Amino acid sequence: MARATCAAGELGDVWLYDIPQKENFAKGKALDLEQNGSVIGYDAHIRGTASWADLEGADVIVVTAGIPRKPGQSRDDLVATNLPIIRDVANNAKKYCPNAFTIVISNPLDAMVYEFKRVTGCAKEKVVGMAGVLDSARFQLFLAREAGVSVKDVRAMVLGGHGDDMVPILSACTINAVPIQNFLAKDKLSAIIERTRKGGGEIVNLMGTSAYYAPASSAVAMAKAYLGDQKRLLACAAYLDGEYGYKDLFIGVPCVIGGKGIEKVVELPLTDEEKAMLKKSAASVQSVVDVVKKS
Ligand SMILES: NC(=O)c1ccc[n+]([C@@H]2O[C@H](COP(=O)([O-])OP(=O)(O)OC[C@H]3O[C@@H](n4cnc5c(N)ncnc54)[C@H](O)[C@@H]3O)[C@@H](O)[C@H]2O)c1
Repeated sequence: MARATCAAGELGDVWLYDIPQKENFAKGKALDLEQNGSVIGYDAHIRGTASWADLEGADVIVVTAGIPRKPGQSRDDLVATNLPIIRDVANNAKKYCPNAFTIVISNPLDAMVYEFKRVTGCAKEKVVGMAGVLDSARFQLFLAREAGVSVKDVRAMVLGGHGDDMVPILSACTINAVPIQNFLAKDKLSAIIERTRKGGGEIVNLMGTSAYYAPASSAVAMAKAYLGDQKRLLACAAYLDGEYGYKDLFIGVPCVIGGKGIEKVVELPLTDEEKAMLKKSAASVQSVVDVVKKS
């Protein structure tokens, strides 16, 4: 789905890479997407391939390689299967697209983006994980529906790891500058936080696999911010080097994305309760990273 959204956004030419066993599927999908452009009016060239050489010099890589979870699984259950896949992708990315801005989507997200950076040795500004834009979008939608306002006016962010202990930030949540507490009582907010944390699982339980549309749009918003030097402030899994008190870890934090990649990690003042939740979430991410480091 990320490829369809990239194509429709006319971000440039799009290559759909998949493993040799899926090459024809990738080529067929590319053709279908180009024909879709002829109907709805976009001119991006889209091709499928199983050869990394075709991706040489890419400006942006969106990494969705790896299996999604099934009902009953946590994201962390995917680590054994997806770790060799992310290593394969990272080794090829290092060889063929060393200057690309890379957006990792594969789960378990924060550990996979950590491993991508470790294997490629790329600069911390040039690799980021997509989770916060999606989790924040889910949070914003639930808040908008419950408060009876347009989703366009909800400002809310979800920080921390992309797991069930992610941290929806209520202290900075407003409906166009009006604090969310003016609209919703504590019990409603707690229920929304809980639904947000399980937002991915809710879809997996319904569809038997991961979400498509909102994750794709989230990754494309990040790619557009980079390609268009838009200086967007988005919640993303960024490499921390002391910010928020964490080092050598990717977790979701507010970042400015522009033409240089992750141009700034913004340190948002958090309440003591939010700091404690972030600590718990970071510890969960660290435990998966520790498994990755030993494997
Ligand atoms: N970060 C998020 O918010 C978020 C949201 C949705 C999905 N996801 C994750 O994204 C990943 C992909 O999900 P999906 O629904 O697109 O799965 P999918 O099964 O539809 O697609 C995954 C693709 O990866 C390919 N692949 C396998 N090994 C590869 C390799 N070495 N190199 C390149 N490609 C390879 C497979 O052939 C397959 O086509 C999963 O890990 C899922 O959990 C993350």
